[in-house]
Amino acid sequence: MKITVIGAGNVGASCASLLAQKNIVKEIVLLDIKDKFSEGKSLDIAQMLPLLRSDTKITGTTNDYSKSKDSEIIIITCGIARKPGMNRDDLVKVNADIIRNVTKESISFSPKAKLIIVSNPLDVMAYVSYITADIDSSRVIGMAGLLDSTRYRFFLSEKLKLSPNDIQSMLLGGHGDTMVPLYRYTSISGIPIKEFISEEDNDDIIDKTKKGGEEIVSLLGTSAWMAPSASVVQMIEAILKDSKRIFSCSAFLNGEYDFKNIYMGVPVILGKSGIEKIIELKLNDKERFLLVQSYNHIKKMVEKLNF
Ligand code: NAI
Ligand code: 2OP
Repeated sequence: MKITVIGAGNVGASCASLLAQKNIVKEIVLLDIKDKFSEGKSLDIAQMLPLLRSDTKITGTTNDYSKSKDSEIIIITCGIARKPGMNRDDLVKVNADIIRNVTKESISFSPKAKLIIVSNPLDVMAYVSYITADIDSSRVIGMAGLLDSTRYRFFLSEKLKLSPNDIQSMLLGGHGDTMVPLYRYTSISGIPIKEFISEEDNDDIIDKTKKGGEEIVSLLGTSAWMAPSASVVQMIEAILKDSKRIFSCSAFLNGEYDFKNIYMGVPVILGKSGIEKIIELKLNDKERFLLVQSYNHIKKMVEKLNF
């Protein structure tokens, strides 16, 4: 069982490290375009593993995709952050070019791989990767909803002074300000959330969740990687163990929720084939309205790429 992580930056290296610590795969390849960077990161991780009794083999490579050959899963975390003088649209175009190239290379060496996309703007990059890879959409999965719903669970647990372990939540839409955490589909140990907090008070928690990524950027000067990489690893585990877990993931919609030709966050069943089913929830008017706003936002970004 071989997994390749593209991008050895904060998220990529942390994914590789967490995965190696779990000792659930035979081999991890870490690839980055920056000379010797992934070699250094993977050596550090490899030297940690004997302490943790993991015999996962991890190696780094500078942009040599032949080393990723026959990977079962490829995690795409590469990209660049916004530079001075660049607007958000410029960034979308630059990252789309990177994701296109990386996807092409990855899939040519591992035609059966499942791709997990992490790079931002997430839903757009997942779409770009899917179109480029030209494989079944069940094998191209965007990671965001799991992270966002984990943040929501965390903020809710802080507010209610209850364990986040017992909070179940579901979230739809794009990764960003337009995400749609679902109050009606949140529960604590099976008890509907309305027994604990009003919808109005919960809206404050939703607002905090929407700004969760931004809050970390303002504290650290760069985006989060611990919770994102743990989210990716949870998705990998569900796929490798074929455990049929239900997570919110960015998935290709072909009529589901009445949307077509777009990636956005929806509940999916994850198993050995990747996305095995998209679950369609019945939405009320407010939820539907918010989801349409989210769709419009993603669609606008995709249209700028002139696909
Ligand atoms: P980072 O800057 O630490 O790492 C990015 C790495 O990509 C760098 O090492 C860079 O050399 C590499 N890279 C750039 N172009 C490449 C190419 N063509 N081929 C191979 N490697 C290349 O960034 P970080 O913090 O790891 O974030 C990575 C991406 O993940 C960003 O787009 C970020 O916005 C996104 N992100 C998404 C989250 C989500 O929930 N979906 C959560 C956190 C981050
Ligand atoms: C996050 O939500 C920036 O997408 C990244 O932390």
